[in-house]
Amino acid sequence: KTTYLKDYRVPDFLVDHVDLRFELYEDGARVHSTLSMRRNPESVDSRGALELDGDSLKLESVALDGDALDTAQYEDLGDLLVIADVPDAFELQVVTWIEPHNNTRLEGLYKSSGMFCTQCEAEGFRCITFFPDRPDVMARFRTRIEADKSSYPILLSNGNDIERGDLADGRHFVTWEDPFPKPCYLFALVAGDLVEKRDNFSTISGRDIDLRMYVEPRNSEKCEHAMDSLKRSMRWDEEVYGREYDLDIFMIVAVDDFNMGAMENKGLNIFNSSCVLASQETATDLAFQRIEAIVAHEYFHNWSGNRVTCRDWFQLSLKEGFTVFRDSQFSSDMGSPTVKRIEDVTLLRTAQFAEDGGPMAHPVRPASYMEISNFYTLTIYEKGAEVVRMIHTLLGPELFRKGSDLYFERHDGQAVTTDDFVKAMEDASGRDLSQFRLWYEQAGTPVLNISDRYDEQAGTYNLTVEQAIPDTPGQEDKRPQHIPFALGLLDGSGNDMPLKMADGDDDAPAERVLELTETSHTFEFNDVSERPVPSLLRQFSAPVRVTYPWTREQLQFLMSHDSDGFNRWDAGQRLAVDVISSLVGAPDKAEIEPRLVAAYRHLMSDPSLDQALVAKMLQLPSEAYLIELADSPDVQAIHRARERVLTHLAISLREDLLACYRRIDCTGVYELTPVAIAGRSLRNTALAWLLHIDDEEGRDLAVNQFREADNMTDRMGALRALVNSGFAADRDQVLEAFYQQFSDDPQVVEQWFSVQSSSPATGGLDQIRQLMAHEAFDWKNPNKVRSVIGVFAGQNLATFHAADGSGYRFLADQVSRLDDSNPQIAARLVTPLTRWKKFAPVHGDQMKAALEQIRDKQGLSRDVYEVVHKSLAG
Ligand code: ARG
Ligand code: ZN
Repeated sequence: KTTYLKDYRVPDFLVDHVDLRFELYEDGARVHSTLSMRRNPESVDSRGALELDGDSLKLESVALDGDALDTAQYEDLGDLLVIADVPDAFELQVVTWIEPHNNTRLEGLYKSSGMFCTQCEAEGFRCITFFPDRPDVMARFRTRIEADKSSYPILLSNGNDIERGDLADGRHFVTWEDPFPKPCYLFALVAGDLVEKRDNFSTISGRDIDLRMYVEPRNSEKCEHAMDSLKRSMRWDEEVYGREYDLDIFMIVAVDDFNMGAMENKGLNIFNSSCVLASQETATDLAFQRIEAIVAHEYFHNWSGNRVTCRDWFQLSLKEGFTVFRDSQFSSDMGSPTVKRIEDVTLLRTAQFAEDGGPMAHPVRPASYMEISNFYTLTIYEKGAEVVRMIHTLLGPELFRKGSDLYFERHDGQAVTTDDFVKAMEDASGRDLSQFRLWYEQAGTPVLNISDRYDEQAGTYNLTVEQAIPDTPGQEDKRPQHIPFALGLLDGSGNDMPLKMADGDDDAPAERVLELTETSHTFEFNDVSERPVPSLLRQFSAPVRVTYPWTREQLQFLMSHDSDGFNRWDAGQRLAVDVISSLVGAPDKAEIEPRLVAAYRHLMSDPSLDQALVAKMLQLPSEAYLIELADSPDVQAIHRARERVLTHLAISLREDLLACYRRIDCTGVYELTPVAIAGRSLRNTALAWLLHIDDEEGRDLAVNQFREADNMTDRMGALRALVNSGFAADRDQVLEAFYQQFSDDPQVVEQWFSVQSSSPATGGLDQIRQLMAHEAFDWKNPNKVRSVIGVFAGQNLATFHAADGSGYRFLADQVSRLDDSNPQIAARLVTPLTRWKKFAPVHGDQMKAALEQIRDKQGLSRDVYEVVHKSLAG
């Protein structure tokens, strides 16, 4: 069954108030719900039956305005409770019985290592009780939780705790009231034996907010970073968006079993442990940064998502795209803006472009879906954020802020659409964004084909930009989109030239944002004294592919001269991609471009360069990105070519690597500044390269660093380098020592799994099977499944794409197995197989066969069904 945007109708019934009472037991939970409802005056159907959504519920009783209904007065269809005859306004009481301890889907109310918790977005609330489970039904909630006092001393829900007390049989209760109307997907409940960490925040208007974190006792020393991140986020949202927190309490809870990263439930954010808990000894720099970003993301949702929410799930990017944009602005302000941009663009170009070019391609505002959980995608989140970013670029920061103020003011307390968002931006700025709206409607990554002509005599430089948007499933012949295109032109010494155009600037700017609206544009620049090297799409001003016939010489030039840090990095990536690609399938003796070694030597040996940028520039493009760029990629040949370049670089630069490693002083206190992070990153890159060529001196450094490290970044850097080396004995030894030291810390064990499952060096599929047989592996824990199976299929590409198809069949087996217990995670694991059409038939046919193997399984979930069927059709 498919749901279509065009079928949207306002709800027939509204809920003004929800009163919930949970009786929590070890063998289940009884949920008493009292809904104060009335017919929606705006509904076209003024007499229709009441229909409430449900899923996996055992209905115990129904009463209307206090009178129990008998089974003839309602119909329990399982996924729907239908009551034909209801008055215009009424109170409905429903009692359901659910089994949280058997809930392996982790949707609705479930148990995770001894605690009760919830995940209701998108459609999990219907697994708790019958309800109109759609985001445009907003109600005030009051929630009373009852449970055994010694096992569950902490009982939490949204809002403020207004009453608590003891009950018979060692039980107790707490009642919570949330004054803000909200859709049921923002409901949350937590019950467990947790330690509480307290802090506070004084808002800009002087209100005192209680900040509380709840974690299992063993994690009590891992909360500080998240708490600090939260306070920084709260301050930042006041300063940059004028948004103040609105409740008296803000709570964060960490749970081990969680399908996604985290959830923005009103006043009670619930996090996957791996996205919130950190200490110097157990979390890498990357994890610290990720946690800061996710804490901010969930906090920012309080305005972009909760106060203003989505009308329906087609509008998901309204809150996700905008909130990802907001959290990336925040991270950029907290650290290095260029590095943050590089990281965002890397993810976008590697994974979102692949999604946009595959069978699951969909617009930022999809037109239809079967299972909404499948649409929490890179397109909704990351491309959605890019779309908001382009509005920011087109309007400039002041008008954008005016637009967001208007949006929040106009729609506070409402459930709205992406169109309402754009309208607010238009109204506040006076700009016409009608063509820009196509970014929400058309799927596919636009391609900009760029050519240029320099006329020495006239002193003119012409740049022609042609845009084309590829066909995607169900969408052909697209209209040109409105694209902000930032650029600069470099002269022979690497300086930006003034960009004089016909609009007759006296004061020509060194950088411009051109606006593309037609299939083809030619821009003319005047008074250009020499042929420039163009620096195109600066800051990656739009989520598009750019083609331009750069020479390797020009790329090397841009790498060291472009005033735009992002484009310096990008030129380096293009050069590396070009060099590696030219070696794919080439004979082993084929020469490797000397410019690459020269450029990398320069980066490594000049400490005056921005070290954060250098650390990024020294990362070779990933295999996944190289595959994404190629037509009919030969994965094994790409793998070999990339390894060859790495080997060549490591051999040629051996002395530089050793010098670079020794130059960087890592003896001081552990700091999370961009410079300190860059230092660790550079040292660990140097180590990885040295171990790639099995350098003895490198090995000694790695073993020593592994032993001496006082932080996880360095310990993990050494471990990863050794795991990917040929020093088998050292590898086994450090892996074992690492596990012994951290076996009781699930987040560290996940990293230990990933470092092995991503490594092509450690024994192929057998290695993956062994990891799955390990005592720490757990099918019920999504993080473990992801860190072994997900990482294998997404990162260990040479093994996954083994010529005999064994990697594909293996993945199909695991997806089929997982689908019975957790369909959401199973559907996500299918992703690598969905790209089968991109590969030459030797691979593609076997990937397709693996998809068919999953398709033919009995009792396939809707989640996996949708992905598999669309992939086979697309
Ligand atoms: N709204 C959450 C976030 O992005 C993600 C929830 C995902 N839930 C799901 N069922 N896919 O912050
Ligand atoms: Zn979000």
